[in-house]
Amino acid sequence: MTETPDHDTTDVLIVGSGIAGCAATLAAARAGADVCLVTKAQRPDDASTDWAQGGISTTRGDPESLKADMLAASDDTADEDAIDVLLEEADDAIEDVLLETLEIEFDEGDDGFDYTREAGHSSRRILHVDAMTGTHILRPFLNYLDDHERVEIRQDTAALDLITHEGRIHGVLTDEAADGHPIFAGATILATGGIGELYSRSTNPADATGDGIAMAALAGAEVADLEYVQFHPTAYAGCEAQRDSRQSGGATEQDDPFLLSEALRGEGAVLRNGEGDRFMADYHPDAELAPRDVVARAVAHEREATGEVVLDVRTLEGEFESEFPAIARMCRDRGVKGAEIPVAPCEHFLCGGIDVDAFGRTSLDRLYAVGECSRTGVHGANRLASTSLLEGLVWGLRAGADATGHEPAVVEVPDLRNSDPDLPERFATEKAIRLKQTMDASLGLERDPDEIARASAVLRRLKGELDAYIRTRTARELYELRHACVTALLIARAASENPDSKGCHYVVADSSETVDHTHAY
Ligand code: SIN
Repeated sequence: MTETPDHDTTDVLIVGSGIAGCAATLAAARAGADVCLVTKAQRPDDASTDWAQGGISTTRGDPESLKADMLAASDDTADEDAIDVLLEEADDAIEDVLLETLEIEFDEGDDGFDYTREAGHSSRRILHVDAMTGTHILRPFLNYLDDHERVEIRQDTAALDLITHEGRIHGVLTDEAADGHPIFAGATILATGGIGELYSRSTNPADATGDGIAMAALAGAEVADLEYVQFHPTAYAGCEAQRDSRQSGGATEQDDPFLLSEALRGEGAVLRNGEGDRFMADYHPDAELAPRDVVARAVAHEREATGEVVLDVRTLEGEFESEFPAIARMCRDRGVKGAEIPVAPCEHFLCGGIDVDAFGRTSLDRLYAVGECSRTGVHGANRLASTSLLEGLVWGLRAGADATGHEPAVVEVPDLRNSDPDLPERFATEKAIRLKQTMDASLGLERDPDEIARASAVLRRLKGELDAYIRTRTARELYELRHACVTALLIARAASENPDSKGCHYVVADSSETVDHTHAY
């Protein structure tokens, strides 16, 4: 990394500090490159990976069986070649990086690892640490990289835009200076995570504003499968009454809809409706272990029909507290009494993203994408549980290694004007509420084409208002909002162009209306 007052240069620039960004950093540094990892988080471990509960899937020597489960979960839409790439390298990557390099101590039973199971998995093959697997992977990973001589980690540094010159990506403009501070790189790898902030309820950290997807799309990169927004069926729903307070900015950490890991159902927890009845067998032969999209829609229907749905952990026979101490503590902290926990679906993961090949290369020269912001094809229309950490690890390693060997070039950068650094009071909050309400209403679990058309119109107006401000201001919240709005428009466009219900994209009505989505953002 070379630093000057006007700009910095590095061999490989990584944007985002989850498992995919860390794996890319590790691979590039191992290949001899100087790597700069930037994250807008105040603490680099405040990434979605840190919030991942269930675990990381292995093949346990039977990749064909895991491949069959991934294809079935995706409603046969996943890309078989991409799955083969993932599964060919999965166990070696776990062995090399997680077990040997980071020495992560996954939970063990009497006979080696205590593999768990989640919905859609036909066997026990998931490594975990309690139900806080992400934390136990990410923190040692960041510590390891922090000590690496070729790696620099910069927190509280937001990427505002990609630097494009003569058809090639040369790094990013960050908010380290009021009018944009360039970091030039031989190759740039986006690992910016998901889109939780596009919805009012999400299991993602508040930084998940779709930055990478929007920046890449605005630079001309191809995106794919964006209509496939995955909702987790069992997020804590005790906080529903406080939703209005959250939207007006009055929420506390206690209100957040934390995840009740699918591993709970994998170990025997069951779902009951407001009448106390189990209902999942009416929706799918695999009942509580049906694919996630099926369970999420069933939970939503039963909540509507009977008032509530609870996750009953009595069936775990006293093992809830001992096997899932972190989740049990979160329930206690929120005053959940007894063993029936109120749940509702909640935005969890974007299956699509920036379209990439088997090495994480996007359609733009020297731009890569890995992790949740990318679309490798392994998830298709619906992701199988505990495959996202794995995808981030494998594609991160592949992209990091591939991205080395390019000289950074200092090129002309756009002039980001900052004539007025302050946004009007409540500007960002009001716009964020409008965005979330639109996405909740029209691009949730079930989609009506007429509603999507109306949502697109609202989002286009919102984008216009944000663009007007961006001409004179570089406030981070403004760029985050624009990124969220561009990503929302792309999701709306993808949803409107796909009339087929598959996986997470469930179309409830037909529309004769023709909508022009050619200028989506
Ligand atoms: C969970 O623990 O239920 C989530 C795991 C995942 O999304 O892969």
